[in-house]
Amino acid sequence: MRRILGTLTSVALLFTPGIGMAQTAPSQVSEFNGADVSLKFPPPVESRNAMAVSSQHFATQAGVDIMAAGGNAIDAAVAIGYALAVTHPCCGNIGGGGFATIHLANGKDTFINFREKAPAAASANMYLDDKGNVIPNLSLHGYKAVGVPGSVMGFERMLTKYGTKTRAEVMAPAIKLAADGYKLDEGDVRTYGFAAAEFAKEPNVAAVFLNNGQPWKVGENLVQKNLAATLREISAKGPDVFYKGDIAERVVAAMKANGGLVTMKDFADFTVTEGDPLRCSYRGYNIISSPPPSSGGASMCEIFNILSGYPMDKMPVHSAKSIHLMVEAMRHAYVDRNFSLGDPVFVKNPLDKLLSAKHAAAIRAKIDPVKATPSSEVKIGTVPHESDQTTHYSVVDKFGNAVSVTYTINGGFGSGVIAGDTGFFLNNEMDDFTSKVGAPNLFGLVQGESNAIAPGKRPLSSMSPTLVTKNGKVMMVIGSPGGSRIITITLESILNVIDHNMDIKAAVDTPRIHHQWMPDTVYAEDNAMTPAVRKELEAAGYKFTSGRPWGSAEGIIIGTKDGKRILYGANDARATAGAAIGN
Ligand code: DON
Repeated sequence: MRRILGTLTSVALLFTPGIGMAQTAPSQVSEFNGADVSLKFPPPVESRNAMAVSSQHFATQAGVDIMAAGGNAIDAAVAIGYALAVTHPCCGNIGGGGFATIHLANGKDTFINFREKAPAAASANMYLDDKGNVIPNLSLHGYKAVGVPGSVMGFERMLTKYGTKTRAEVMAPAIKLAADGYKLDEGDVRTYGFAAAEFAKEPNVAAVFLNNGQPWKVGENLVQKNLAATLREISAKGPDVFYKGDIAERVVAAMKANGGLVTMKDFADFTVTEGDPLRCSYRGYNIISSPPPSSGGASMCEIFNILSGYPMDKMPVHSAKSIHLMVEAMRHAYVDRNFSLGDPVFVKNPLDKLLSAKHAAAIRAKIDPVKATPSSEVKIGTVPHESDQTTHYSVVDKFGNAVSVTYTINGGFGSGVIAGDTGFFLNNEMDDFTSKVGAPNLFGLVQGESNAIAPGKRPLSSMSPTLVTKNGKVMMVIGSPGGSRIITITLESILNVIDHNMDIKAAVDTPRIHHQWMPDTVYAEDNAMTPAVRKELEAAGYKFTSGRPWGSAEGIIIGTKDGKRILYGANDARATAGAAIGN
C-alpha cells in the first residue's frame, strides 16, 4: 500500500518552462510530447487491485479499508462520501448533493442524481429586490440560500442497489473520525483558515471549527461530537431519520427561526433519480459523464466534438494554437450551457442539437483560424446557437467496478450555517440558479431562463464525474471541484491523457486554462503557457486573468504493465490534504 500526499510545493514550482522535456516515469504511457514547456511531476501511485483518490487522505483511507475488507468500489465510494463529510466539510457533505457516474463490473453504466432541489416556497424572483435587482449574498449566505440536501439519499441508493456492505459498516469510519477526531495537516488547516472569520459569526459553528476562538493548527485533533451523533442516527435508522425524522425536524426548526424556506414536506418530497449517463466519443475513446441537471457532460462533449475536427494531438500542450482552439470551443460551449440547459424535469434540454456533429462543424466554421472572437459576438440566437466548494473522488476495485463522484455544498462551507446541533453545514446551492438573467452568480456565470428558480427544481450544475472507456473497458476515472471551471478542468485532464500521452499525475497537476464566454477573459494558472505563447495570444486578441490555482482533479487510470492490469492513481497537487492510495 502506498500513499502520496500532495506536496506543499506549488504547481508553479513543479512546472518549469523552457528547460526541455523531462517528465518523470510516465509509467502507463509512451511519451510526453509537449514541446514548448517542460513538466516535472511525481509518478502516480500504482496498485494491482484497487485504488481510491480523494482530496482528504483519511477519507481515501476509509474507502481503501472497505475494499481491503472485501467491499466493492460502491461500498468504498459511500464510505469516502461520509468520511469526507467529516474530514473535508468545506466541500464533502451531508448538507448538499451531487452526482455519481458508475461503471459496474457487469458492463452496465449508470448515473445517480442526488442534486439538491429548490424548496416548494422558492420562486423565480426570490433573490431580487422591489426594483428587480439581485440582493447581494441572499442566495449565498444563511438559510434562504439552502436547497433540500440530497447526499444521504444518494449514498443510500448507491449502497443498497450496488454495494455489498451494510450501512453501519460503510459509515463506521466517518463516525469514528467525527467522534475521536482527526489530526489536521497543513492542507486541512489552510481550508479551515480561509473561513475563520465566517466561522466566528455563528456561535455553533465557531464552537467546533475554531479552537477557543482561534483557527485550528497543524497537528491538532478536530473532534465533531454533534456530527458524530447525526451520523450515528443515520447509520442506525437510515435516510428516513434525515428526511422525515429528527434530523429534518432540527433543520426545519432552524429554517423557521432564520427565514429559511425548507419545510418538512420539502424533505419528505426529496427524490433521487437514476438513469443513463451522457456519452460522446473523442479520438476513439468514449466519454461517459453527467447529463442534466448537470451541464458538465454536455459542455465537455460539445467541446470534445468541436476539437475533434482539429489535430489537437499533433499540437504541443498549451501552444498558442491549441489554447486558441480550446478557448474558442469553450466560449461557444459555455454560451450554450448558460442559456440552453436546466433541470430536465422542468425544461427541454436540446442535447441532440448541442451534441450533433453539425453543431460542432458550424462552430468550427465560426472560429477564426488565428484571432479571438469577442464573446459579445457569440450570443444566443446568432448562428450556431439557438436558444472554491465541491469535492471529487474516484474509486476502482478489483472486481471491475469504477465510481466517479462529485458532490458539493456549493461555496466553501456552503451557506455558512449549521442548523442547531446537527453538526453539518447546509448548502448554498440556490446560487447555482439564475437569480436574474444577465446577473453573474458566484462563479461569474451569466445564465438564462432555462435555469430560472422554480419549486422542486434542481439548479443547473457544472459537476462532471466522468469515466473514459476504450473498447468497452474503463481506462480513466476523473472529475474535480471548481464551480464553472469543473468542466474545463475535467476536459483538460482527459485531453492531457488522450492527446498528450501524459500519465495521470501529470494530467491533473499540469497548469490549466479556462474560458466561460463571460467574462471574456482567458483564466490561466501560473506557468500554463510560456511568455512567448501568451504574447502571441495577446496579439490575437485574447485578454488574460491570472489567479491562484483552481480545482482538485482526483483521477485514476487503468492500464497494463507487464501484461497485467494496473491502476495508477493521482491526487491533484493543489489539494494538499488529499491522497491516492492503492490496495
Ligand atoms: O454544481 C455546481 O456546479 C457548483 N455548485 C459547484 C461548486 C464548486 O465546485 C465549488 N468549488 N470549487
